[in-house]
Amino acid sequence: MEIVPNFIFPTAVWSTLFDDRSTFNAALLERIYDLRVQNPKGVANTNIKGWQSPNNIQSLPQFEDLCLRLVQVCQRIGESQYFEPDLGFNLQAWININPPGASNKIHYHANCHFSGIYYVSVKAPECGNIFFRDPRVASRMLTYPATRPTDFTTEEVRMKPEAGRMYVFPGWLEHGVEENESDDDRVSIAFNILAGRKSSA
Ligand SMILES: [Fe+2]
Repeated sequence: MEIVPNFIFPTAVWSTLFDDRSTFNAALLERIYDLRVQNPKGVANTNIKGWQSPNNIQSLPQFEDLCLRLVQVCQRIGESQYFEPDLGFNLQAWININPPGASNKIHYHANCHFSGIYYVSVKAPECGNIFFRDPRVASRMLTYPATRPTDFTTEEVRMKPEAGRMYVFPGWLEHGVEENESDDDRVSIAFNILAGRKSSA
């Protein structure tokens, strides 16, 4: 007798790696630190000890090429999920510079179809994984008496940062970032995408 699981309501964290990441990130990193010089205080949000830019870098010309890529990746993911054609993909993006000791509290992003992160500078693996919490809230009521976690029994999933890597996930998926235990900044771009009909002005 064969017993097979049918996975229903799966949660995807899509991932891609930019081919030209080293040259692309070098130029991007300069622009990021320039922006911090212009606005050293940044904004306080989910980041602990880190610097976060305002969430408007999609309107800054020096980040146009980056933002275009973020949108293109999400458009392809939308296509894979049979999104209607010719939708606008409205992007909101911001920068996180997390120095040693910095982290991001667990949170989610309301009112967007996709959220994601793109890593610009990751110098050491211990600079802080992104972690995702099981979105099946009721499943947290009881832990499984298992000797090791599986995709089904786990409560949290960690993913490694890597320069040039982009993760995309549903905005409702709770996530946070572990403390940066390296000696260098971890620099990343976080973003939200809301897909919808373009307004016919
Ligand atoms: Fe986030």
